[in-house]
Amino acid sequence: MENIIDQIKSLAQDADEAGRRKILDGLRDLALSLETPQDTMQRISYLHLQPALVRVGLDLNIFKTLAESDHPLNLDELATKANAAPTLLDQATIINSWQSLKRIANIELKARVLRYLASVGTIKETGDNTFTGNNITRSLSDEGIASAIYHNVNIIAPPIFALPDFLVKNKYQDITSSVNTPLQQAFNTDQPAFVWAQTKPDLFVHFNKFMEAEQRGMRRWFDVFPIEEKSKDLSPDQALFVDVGGNIGHQSLALKKRLPDIKNDIIVEDMEIVISCVIPCEGVKTVVFDFFQPQVVRGARFYYFRSILHDWADEKALIILKNTISALGPDSAILIDEMVLPNSGVHWHATQVDMAMMSSLASLERTTKQWHSLLERAGLKIVEIHTYSARYNSILECVPV
Ligand SMILES: C[S@@+](CC[C@H](N)C(=O)[O-])C[C@H]1O[C@@H](n2cnc3c(N)ncnc32)[C@H](O)[C@@H]1O
Repeated sequence: MENIIDQIKSLAQDADEAGRRKILDGLRDLALSLETPQDTMQRISYLHLQPALVRVGLDLNIFKTLAESDHPLNLDELATKANAAPTLLDQATIINSWQSLKRIANIELKARVLRYLASVGTIKETGDNTFTGNNITRSLSDEGIASAIYHNVNIIAPPIFALPDFLVKNKYQDITSSVNTPLQQAFNTDQPAFVWAQTKPDLFVHFNKFMEAEQRGMRRWFDVFPIEEKSKDLSPDQALFVDVGGNIGHQSLALKKRLPDIKNDIIVEDMEIVISCVIPCEGVKTVVFDFFQPQVVRGARFYYFRSILHDWADEKALIILKNTISALGPDSAILIDEMVLPNSGVHWHATQVDMAMMSSLASLERTTKQWHSLLERAGLKIVEIHTYSARYNSILECVPV
């Protein structure tokens, strides 16, 4: 057995990203094929514990503490380093603030949390109540990845858990209205998600970091799109790139780094609450803009939408697109950076995002056919689909018909 594991490890070490994924998928399929009904029951019934307990681990600073230590830590050392005194619990204080939770977390509770986290492989138990980090611990000690967990536990999970009853209540009809989704039920609001979220700025901080972390270290759209070639012959006052709903500007910053000599504007547009957090960068401008209004920057070479249209069902997506088409100049193009799903055999990485979109936003990840249908209705034709990752990430390069 150890021999086989060593062989797989060495295969993975030499593999490219697609090869590494193939190995992961193969191992997952193998593990599932070996499960008994009891195993399946145990695995699926308790699946939701992992994100909840990982959040507790993040609240208690466990992953960072272990990742930064060059030797295993026992419970007392962990309590001290994570600033958590091994005293008796005060439940009310714990619920009130994670800072005080770190300070007063009971040693017994910590031991049980650590034991759970080790049992699911997020940290490693090296002896009696002694722990060290592994590659998962190191990943979870990253601020962006931690933010992804916070965002998903705090915002995405409650609507997912509300989904079954929501579907029963609505007789299994498609979820098409952004003000009637499991999110409104879960958070007792009648506002659409992005309006509701603006009333909770602390949530946005995690969301923004999550958006940045999502693409870090991955191939980017301009690794396959001939951006240098297509940025030629701009007129001096023409904007190069309008990053519509560009969040804190990570894509625009990456583009500026790729094209340092281009003087034409790169512009990040988003809601005010987000624009105030944009990472400052020379050559990248910001504009507060609501994409349900007509586009204010006219005649730019590229209007870029990354993970925007997947937030909206077709009727809303059409409004966003038409508001952009009205600003296009003769050499403008719309670049849509989204997953383009195959018609069958879609990977769980994509289907899980699709379910989150459905539950919180009444929206969807689209197949090639669905993209064609949406864009045709908007009056656009697809010049080319440039796929740049094994996760279906693609640039749909579009111009008016
Ligand atoms: C899923 S995020 C994608 C962000 C960014 N494009 C990226 O790929 O990382 C959606 C973005 O749309 C922005 N947004 C939502 N509603 C908006 C609106 N009406 N006008 C402008 N931006 C909006 C959000 O603030 C958020 O930054």
